Formats: sequence, C-alpha cells, structure tokens
Amino acid sequence: MENPGFVMHEDGLSNTAPSKIPQKNGHLYPCEENKRSYCSLMKLFLVCLLACLITTTVGVLILSLVYVGHFSPKTDTAASTTANQPSQNNADSRFNFLNNLGQSKVFTFQGGSIQWARFRNNPSDYSSPAELKFGTSINKHQSMMTLGTIRIFSQGMKVPHWHLNANEHGFLLKGKAWIGIVEAGGSTVTTFNITAGQVVFFPKNTLHWVKNVGDEDCLFISFFTTNDELKTLDVDDAFFGTPEDILSRALKPEGGVQFIRTFKKPIEDQSINLPANLKDLVNNASYAQSANSSVWKYFYDLKGSKEFSYPGGVMQWARYRKNGVGLNENEQIYSDSLNQHADTLTLGTLRIFSNGLRVPHYHFNAHEMGYVISGCGQIGIVGDEPVSEFTVGVGDVFYFPIGAQHYIKSTCEEELLMITAATTGNQLETLDMDDYFHATADHILAQLFLKKQDEFKKIPVFTVDQSINIP
Ligand SMILES: *[C@@H]1O[C@H](CO)[C@@H](O)[C@H](O)[C@H]1NC(C)=O
Ligand SMILES: *[C@@H]1O[C@H](CO)[C@@H](O)[C@H](O)[C@H]1NC(C)=O
Ligand SMILES: *[C@@H]1O[C@H](CO)[C@@H](O)[C@H](O)[C@H]1NC(C)=O
Repeated sequence: MENPGFVMHEDGLSNTAPSKIPQKNGHLYPCEENKRSYCSLMKLFLVCLLACLITTTVGVLILSLVYVGHFSPKTDTAASTTANQPSQNNADSRFNFLNNLGQSKVFTFQGGSIQWARFRNNPSDYSSPAELKFGTSINKHQSMMTLGTIRIFSQGMKVPHWHLNANEHGFLLKGKAWIGIVEAGGSTVTTFNITAGQVVFFPKNTLHWVKNVGDEDCLFISFFTTNDELKTLDVDDAFFGTPEDILSRALKPEGGVQFIRTFKKPIEDQSINLPANLKDLVNNASYAQSANSSVWKYFYDLKGSKEFSYPGGVMQWARYRKNGVGLNENEQIYSDSLNQHADTLTLGTLRIFSNGLRVPHYHFNAHEMGYVISGCGQIGIVGDEPVSEFTVGVGDVFYFPIGAQHYIKSTCEEELLMITAATTGNQLETLDMDDYFHATADHILAQLFLKKQDEFKKIPVFTVDQSINIP
C-alpha cells in the first residue's frame, strides 16, 4: 500500500518538473522576437511582460489542475477504507467500538443464517456506514477478532469446513448441537453434544461440523481470531474444486470415476444446509461421544464453571490458568489446549446487576470484544481517540482495543448479561482504576492533581474486590 503511494508521488513530481520548462520557454520566445522592433521598446516590453504574466498564470493553473486530477483520485483509493468515509460522520465515533449486530444484514441459507461484525476488504461490501466504521476500526487496531452470530434450524447443519486464517471460539446461547472435529492425520475424531451456556473451540484449520440435534434453533455467538476477512473452505467446495479423475484416485470408490460423477454440485451455497428429504438420506445418526480427554480439548462447560462473585455482579471464565490453579481435571485439559495453540481467546460471561458497574479498567495483554445477551448498559472508553459514552442493548457488539480503559454500567432493571472474548491464550492481565489509584503513592497523586496529599485518604480501600460494584 505504501509503495504504490510513493511511486505515485514520485511520478507526480517528475511530471510537474519537465512540464514547467516548456511553459517557460513558450513565453520566452515571443519576448525575444519582439526585441527586433526599436520604435516603442518600452511599450513592447510592457506588452511582453503582460503576456509573460498571463502565460505563467495559465501555465500554473493548468499545472495545478493536472496536479489535482492526478492526485485526488489516488489519495481516495489509498485512504478510502481508513480515513475518508468515516471522517464524514465523525459524530458517530462510537461506531469505532460499537456494532448494532442485531440490525445488520442477515445472510440466509437453507438451514440457518449468519450475521457479521467484521472487516471487509471491499468497503462497498458493508451494508451501512456504521458497519464500515466498525470494520475499519477493528482492522486498524489489529483486534485479532471478528464476531459472527450463527443460527442453525432444528436438524440443520453447519457443513464440515475449516477456517484458513482463524481459530473459532463459539458460545452456544441456545439450543443443542452435535459437534465433530477431525484433527491432523484423521485418525482422531472428537464428537460431543453441547448445550446452551457451553463453549466450543475449533483450532485454526481443524475440520469441524455442527449439527442442531435439538428441537429449537441453535444460536452460536462465535469469535474468530482474525481482523482480516475470514477465510473458510467447506468440504463440498473442496470436493467440487478437485478434478474427477483426482477424486477417483484419491478416494478409490467402487465404480471409480462413474461413482464420482453421481455427485451433483448444489446450486445454492450449502454453508448451513437442511435438505427437505433429510429423513430419506439418513438412516442411522448415532455416533458415540468421545472420551473426556479428547472432548475437553475443544469443549468447556462455561455455565457449569465456578462463579466469581462481586458486590455488583458475577463473572465466569473459560480460560487458561497457570498450573491449572482452581480448575478441575476436565477444565485443565481445556486450559492446556488453549495455551498450546497460537492466538487463542479467553472467554467469559459477565453479569452485572441493575445499577452495577464494572469499574474502569484495562488489559495489558488483550483486545476485548463482547456481545450483549440481555439487559442494557452504558459504556465509556478512554483510549487513543476521543469517544463519548454510548449505550448498548441486546444484540450489540462492543470492542475495547488493547490498553484502552473502559467501563460498563448496567442501566436497566433487568441485569446485563454479556459474553466477552479477550485475545490471549495466557492469563489475562487487568488493572482496575481503584487499584492503580491505591497503588500510586499519594504524594505522586498530590503532585499530579495539584491537590493536597491528605485529600487522597478520602479514597478508601475495601476488603471486598470492587471489580463490579454497586453505589
Ligand atoms: C449405527 O451407527 C453406529 C455407529 O456407526 C453403529 O455402531 C451402529 O451399529 C449402527 N446402528 C445400526 C442399526 O446400523
Ligand atoms: C446427543 O444428543 C442427541 C439428541 O438429544 C442424542 O440422540 C445423542 O445420543 C447425544 N449424543 C451423545 C454422544 O451424547
Ligand atoms: C467425563 O466428565 C464428566 C463431567 O464433565 C463426568 O461426569 C464423567 O464421569 C466423565 N467421564 C469419564 C469416563 O471420566
């Protein structure tokens, strides 16, 4: 991106330099010709001067027009994704950190639908300026996260696929799903059922499928560990992208290539499918659950895990802990699995009671993205750019860049419930505002705030952790 910019700039300069010279020559010649006349040398000189001035002016005008014509479209394409369009609605700087996902475009399939809070390579692929702002922001901040909500109808299936450039961490909000995961080598297939409130982890490029085995819709809130466009390959697309003879050689089926030709490429995108004649196609869907030692590499019972209580709310975590501190045997398997893969996430649910406040804090080692499941709240961010406090409700996605201080206040009568993801497969490092105030010597605070040292004794230390507090 930067190199073409430089080339353009240099082209521009070398264009202006030579084109200036002929202009000058152009108005020097008539002046010299006029020297031959002796009668009204002065008059002629003045006329000549005027001509010179006019040609120079015209020349400069032409040059500047050429300059503008040459440069403005280039600057447009170079900066349109980052600067131009967002700057038109600066008032909505909150959309750098907020995505009203519930109102975004729904991508529908036979067996379900998907909505995205993500970056797009082509700015015209966004369905609103607010979405563009959010996508641009997470990409610019290198958030290492993209969020999608995936709905699968009863008996529908997210077909076997893998993600080329991201891990996936899914939180099942409702329904019941049967998961299959194929590891490298193909000899290990891990399958298990998951229910609402539980978490699934698909490492980058592991082949996986998700089938709704319940009666109601499944709804996954999925975090993908990339801030670029997510790249996915479905098994049917990989199949139909391979020549018949190669398929026949690779699979060696009875009937050879004739058998391969009986496969028909579907017209519609199969991403989430639900064939009308499913009952005729499938006659035995039973499949054993894998052993805990395999299942928990990809599964975590977030809802059933330890609750961390504070005066104003409750947190639960699906995360890595050093030496498995505080985790049971199965949870340790998950913890180790996260730590062994690159770019994994720390997931958590955050429940804030009515009028509770997750006090201002920031993370040393992670970006954070979250989705509002129920309730409503107010969010404030202090970071590298100004943004005013904004409200969030059900279906909204929020984003906190690494190091940016943020708070969340629960503002409805109903409690505020969120699923959040932080970009670390190590222990999340967090610093709360009250803690850094107490940790900073009061004479330093006195000098900083131009306030008497004794005044800072008015900020009390509590025995109970105030991470989520009430007034
Ligand atoms: C159904 O499939 C399972 C797993 O492949 C197998 O163990 C079982 O015997 C099959 N049942 C019938 C009735 O074919
Ligand atoms: C998963 O759930 C389905 C539907 O309730 C059930 O038929 C199946 O036996 C379960 N599988 C396992 C491995 O528990
Ligand atoms: C697997 O883990 C569950 C708890 O999640 C436990 O109830 C079950 O007994 C374990 N199974 C085995 C075979 O250890």
